[in-house]
Amino acid sequence: MHDSLFQPIQLGAITAPNRILMAPCTRTRAQDDGVPSAMMATYYAQRAGAGLIISEAVGISREGLGTARAPGIWTAEQVEGWKPVTDAVHEAGGRIVCQLWHMGRVVHPWFLGGEPPVSASATRLEDGMAHTPAGRFPYEPARPLRIDEMARVVEDYALAARGAREAGFDGVQLHAANGYLIDQFLRSSTNLRDDDYGGPAENRVRLLREVLQGLVAEWDAGHVSVRLSPNGDSQGADDHDPATLFAHAAQVVQDAGAAFLELRQPGPEGSYGSTDVPQQDAVIRKIYKGPLVLNSDYTAEAADADVASGRCDAVSFGRPYLSNPDLAERIRTGAAWAPNRGAPKSWYYPSEEGYTDYPTLAEETAGAAA
Ligand SMILES: Cc1cc2nc3c(=O)[nH]c(=O)nc-3n(C[C@H](O)[C@H](O)[C@H](O)COP(=O)(O)O)c2cc1C
Repeated sequence: MHDSLFQPIQLGAITAPNRILMAPCTRTRAQDDGVPSAMMATYYAQRAGAGLIISEAVGISREGLGTARAPGIWTAEQVEGWKPVTDAVHEAGGRIVCQLWHMGRVVHPWFLGGEPPVSASATRLEDGMAHTPAGRFPYEPARPLRIDEMARVVEDYALAARGAREAGFDGVQLHAANGYLIDQFLRSSTNLRDDDYGGPAENRVRLLREVLQGLVAEWDAGHVSVRLSPNGDSQGADDHDPATLFAHAAQVVQDAGAAFLELRQPGPEGSYGSTDVPQQDAVIRKIYKGPLVLNSDYTAEAADADVASGRCDAVSFGRPYLSNPDLAERIRTGAAWAPNRGAPKSWYYPSEEGYTDYPTLAEETAGAAA
C-alpha cells in the first residue's frame, strides 16, 4: 500500500529507504545536565524503520536551552551520551539527524542564573508559562543580541554540529521554526531591529544565512538540513508578509545547498497549532530545488497523495510516531495506528511510560495470541 512512500530517496548525503520521516519531538527524558539517558537509545532504535529520524530539539548552548530534561550537545559529556543513541539506531538499521536548537526568548532566566534570555529584540513571549524545576513562571523580556555577539552565536551552532558529527549522527537539522531564536529573527513581530539583522526580509534572514554557512563549513551541505514553519503564528512569532519573508528564507536554504527542507505548516483544522494563514509550500518549492518534506496532521493517504503528485518528496510524522514505533510498517500493511495515551501529559513524563512501552503491531498480535 501507498507505494510512493516506499520509493527510496536521497536526502543530501543520506539514502532513506522510504519517505516516512519521524518529525522532531521533544520528550524530556534526558538527565538534568542534558546528557541523554539509556531509555533514549531504546526509544529511537524502536523507530529505526523511519526513512529518517529527526531527533528531538537538542540545545546548542547553555544560553539556548530552557526546557528541563531536554538534551544538549555542547558539553563533552553530552556528546559522549549521544553515542549509544546513534549506535543503537544504526544497529537497528536506521538513520538519525540531530535537530539543533536555540530557544532565544523562550528560555526563562531561571536557566540562566537570573540573566535575561537573548533574542532579536527586547520582546517577551506573552502566551503560556515557562516550566522550570522551581515551578511555572511568566516569560520575561529578552535582551537583544548585540552585533558583536552574532559571530559567537553562529560559532555555537557550528560547534554543536561538530559535536553531532562526533556523536555519530548522520547529519544536523537547523531548527529555524516554531518561534525559537532563528524564527524570532525571521519574523517582523519579534524582530524590531534597525541594523543589518532587522528591517526588510532580506535582513531578517541574515542570521539564518550565517548559521547555515557556518554549519556547511563545519560539516558539508549534504549533512545540513533546515526546518521552517512558514505560515501563521508560532509562540508569538508572526509576520506581516509571510509570502515575501519565506521566499527569501527558501532562497537562503537553496543557496546553502541544504540536504532537505522540512516545513511544519498546520492548516485551519490543525490539531497541534492551527492557522488560516495560507501554507507556503508551493512558493517555496519553486525556489528551493532540493527534497521538500511536509509535516502536520498527515494521514497515510494524504502523505501518499502529496508525494505521488509531486507536491513534496517526503512527509514527516510527529505524534503518530510517538505511539507507533513501527509506523512505516503499519503504513505499508495498512494497519491501524495506535493513539497517544494520556497526551499531552504523557509526552513529557520522566519515565519509560508512554515512551518506550508502545508495542509494534507484531508484538501486539503476539500479545493477543498469548
Ligand atoms: C510532544 C511534541 C514535541 C515536539 N517537539 C518538537 C521539537 O522538539 N522540535 C520541533 O521542530 N517540533 C516539535 N514538535 C512539533 C512536531 O515536530 C510536529 O510538527 C507536530 O507534532 C505536527 O505533526 P503531526 O501532526 O505529525 O504530529 C513537537 C510536537 C509534539 C507533539
